[in-house]
Amino acid sequence: MKTILSLSSAVQLETECLVAVVLDKGEKDKTEAYVSADKAIQQSAADLLSASDITGKNFEVAWLHRPAGLKAKRLLLIGGGKAKKFSSSDLRRLAGAAVRALKPRTLRNLAFVLPAEIPAEEAVKAVVEGAIVGNFDPDTYKSDRKDQNVESLTVVTTGDQANLQRALDEARILAESQNFTRDLVNEPSNRMTPTILANRAQGMAEDVGLKCEVYGADKLKELKMGAFWGVAQGSDEPPALIVMRYEPDGAPEKPVLGLVGKGVTFDTGGISIKPADNMEKMKYDMAGGATMIGAIRAIALLKPKIKVIGIVCATENMPSGKAQKPGDIQTAMSGKTIEIINTDAEGRLVLADGLCYARQLGCTHLIDAATLTGAVVVALGYYNAGIFANDDDFYNRFKNALDQSGEKMWRLPLDDEYKEQIKSGIADMMNTGGRWGGAITAAMFLKEFAEDIPWIHLDIAGTAWMEDTKPWIAKGPSGIAVRSLVEFARKFGSN
Ligand code: BES
Ligand code: MN
Ligand code: ZN
Repeated sequence: MKTILSLSSAVQLETECLVAVVLDKGEKDKTEAYVSADKAIQQSAADLLSASDITGKNFEVAWLHRPAGLKAKRLLLIGGGKAKKFSSSDLRRLAGAAVRALKPRTLRNLAFVLPAEIPAEEAVKAVVEGAIVGNFDPDTYKSDRKDQNVESLTVVTTGDQANLQRALDEARILAESQNFTRDLVNEPSNRMTPTILANRAQGMAEDVGLKCEVYGADKLKELKMGAFWGVAQGSDEPPALIVMRYEPDGAPEKPVLGLVGKGVTFDTGGISIKPADNMEKMKYDMAGGATMIGAIRAIALLKPKIKVIGIVCATENMPSGKAQKPGDIQTAMSGKTIEIINTDAEGRLVLADGLCYARQLGCTHLIDAATLTGAVVVALGYYNAGIFANDDDFYNRFKNALDQSGEKMWRLPLDDEYKEQIKSGIADMMNTGGRWGGAITAAMFLKEFAEDIPWIHLDIAGTAWMEDTKPWIAKGPSGIAVRSLVEFARKFGSN
């Protein structure tokens, strides 16, 4: 989607569709809707409002053809809720909803009038991000697929042109990187093997000027990655250890941010095989890895002055005559021994070695992302990812990035008591911690491999895949965490 900044009056804009936000400034139960745009637009919408065709409720829409006094062919009014509570997060979703309202009508361009309630640069960013994310549909393999993508978005606002243009360009990079991740996650496992994922990462790296190395089984054995290999050994598809490096000139030696992603391209459960119902979903078990590939893409384009290393541990988790079995003992790269209780707890195994390798490569701070546990879905449902951290300061910095991106994550505890649950009678630890607190015991397991450096773990099992369509985003891969990680890396690099 092309994105254009317009500082001229909305009245003069020739567009298929002008979009303006309707807000409600009524106290409590009272409604008092108004269009947050200039006089001319308010006047042309006056009848719709006085007839209560639109009252400002969230995502409510009203269409007006040949709006009086405007050059646009149509005016689309979209409700944003109570004016007092209206935030850039709401605006991001409205932009997505506007694009998604246009798509089935085969409209190809829109001009979004930014509401004055949000500071202009923040608003530009929110609208561009929301619109590009809203433009994505996962219907790649439908033979009657009509390309209904919106082709251009004009953002109508006032302010300093250079600053607004920068906000627009940055937002485009963020949202396109999020969609890049969604594209990877959307692919089924026969079209997204570890090898293909690695090729996609390499192609991206070439495009944006990143170093990218891909290693196979030999390297896993050489590095003594017994936990990662324990998972990979059961599959006929070779594993891939993907290492992407962003090392800009002038970046300080430290910190080095490590982004480690779970790239299980299909999770059958292995010998502890999963039930058939919903197993097809396990094609998205590489979402954490795809998140890191998308995030480092945006980082390479936005060029913060900080070193970042992205590591994706890609493999299938399959049952076979070569597969690891419950009761097996694996020795991780760090030297710690693991008793495999359930071969379906494979994500923590591949990440254990990914985290250890990241430290060996010199990372001083680590963030991992993984569709790690069903238990995080039980705990937080579909609306918050789980976040775990062994360092409050590091967590607080990440929290700021969440506030900027509008992505929802909820911190869960990592108290020492939980470690009891993963104690093994025969090895240093077990790979499962029993029925209760499953997201936490999985995180406790990872914590053993982050050792003493600041580390954050994002469990995105409930949030990486949207179960329903929403007005602002398609059903399917969400691209959660990409924007937060990038916002975080940029800030982290500047102080
Ligand atoms: N990939 C799954 C977790 C998952 C569940 C992702 C639902 C997305 C949606 C993970 O590898 C897994 O199987 N976890 C097990 C762990 C258990 C065996 C301790 C789980 O959550 O059941
Ligand atoms: Mn599993
Ligand atoms: Zn898994």
